[in-house]
Amino acid sequence: MTVLVVGGGGREHAICAALRKSPLVKRLICAPGNGGISNIAECVPVKATDIPGMLKLAGERGVDFVVVAPDDPLALGMVDAFEKAGIAAFGPGKNAAIIESSKVFSKSLMEKYAIPTASYRAFDHMQDALDYIEEKGAPIVVKADGLALGKGVVVAMTLQEAKQAVKEMMEDKKFGQSGSRIVIEDYMTGPEVTVLCFTDGKTIVPMPSSQDHKRAYDNNEGPNTGGMGAICPSPNYTPRIAQECMEKIFLPTIHAMASEGRPFKGVLYFGLMLTPDGPRVVEYNARFGDPETQPVLSLLETDLMEIFMAVTGERLSELEIKWKDGAACCVVLASGGYPGQYTTGYEIEGLDKSLPGITVYHAGTKKEEGKYFTSGGRVLGVTATAEHLKGAINMAYDAVKTIYFKDMHYRADIGRDFLV
Ligand code: GLY
Repeated sequence: MTVLVVGGGGREHAICAALRKSPLVKRLICAPGNGGISNIAECVPVKATDIPGMLKLAGERGVDFVVVAPDDPLALGMVDAFEKAGIAAFGPGKNAAIIESSKVFSKSLMEKYAIPTASYRAFDHMQDALDYIEEKGAPIVVKADGLALGKGVVVAMTLQEAKQAVKEMMEDKKFGQSGSRIVIEDYMTGPEVTVLCFTDGKTIVPMPSSQDHKRAYDNNEGPNTGGMGAICPSPNYTPRIAQECMEKIFLPTIHAMASEGRPFKGVLYFGLMLTPDGPRVVEYNARFGDPETQPVLSLLETDLMEIFMAVTGERLSELEIKWKDGAACCVVLASGGYPGQYTTGYEIEGLDKSLPGITVYHAGTKKEEGKYFTSGGRVLGVTATAEHLKGAINMAYDAVKTIYFKDMHYRADIGRDFLV
């Protein structure tokens, strides 16, 4: 089979690495890919959001199956376009990807189907939003309705921060049209957990839990990023909580989507908060998370291509998905300044060594004449697998010490809460 993976970050590197192991995959193409992916797949410089470009590429190369990994092309309807062209594609269609691309949609879905989440109000007018904030007080959460590179959520600890977030979204158009509608929701407390689930719209199969670290600096300080590191599984996600989530959140969500005429097929990402009153949905994403995918897929035993085909063929209930025992930790190495301004083009040293139990997934890298250079904000995801989480965390940080590029920045506390 010839398989095309759309995207070019650490998540896509992890997906390509898993697909490379499948005997079903004879030829692997990734567009646009990156420096690391180019070692295991043919990378073609087509932008991930370029639907006509991807259709042309798939036609020219005789692609049999497409995996659409990032949020933007899913929201634009890339899966629908491939299906229309007679090419099987993994991921939700546009009418189901809305569960991520509109916060107003997802909050109203949860309200309608009594899926536990924070109370909220949606706003189209800035003054109404500011008045509501004044009435509710802080802390409070402000979210842009649309996609915003993972940066459209502000957890405001003061009234001033909340009002500033509203103004930046609705008046200054910081996120363009994505912020012309906003959601304001109650502040929740508790540990956050990510659960990625495979679903064919009828059956839903959770992957091992994980935990992202979204803030740029140690101790959860600094601005929000796409994610600075993740561990898998989360020790906070006990079997009892997992059962509660399946009954009250996962199954109700896929049933709700089906009832709305928007059956969801692909990976559904549940961002959860384990509040004192039970698990609550913080956010849905319509795709694998980044960087959660890097540690999670490191523990996958079953052939990923078989899973993708079972999802698109709506026969997920027939497949037993197996995971390795143990744990994994991914530490993201970022360009200095990320998520703000940063410089690219620095040579990366230390990628020639191969260390046992370590996989270095590339995100913002390019390869030129056998050398790797930085080309994005998140550059690498150093991922370790071990019998226990503590071992994985220590191994990942030992491996980080062997890599260098100018202004390299990383958090030194990924998974640290679980080391005590
Ligand atoms: N790690 C957060 C996300 O993928 O959206």
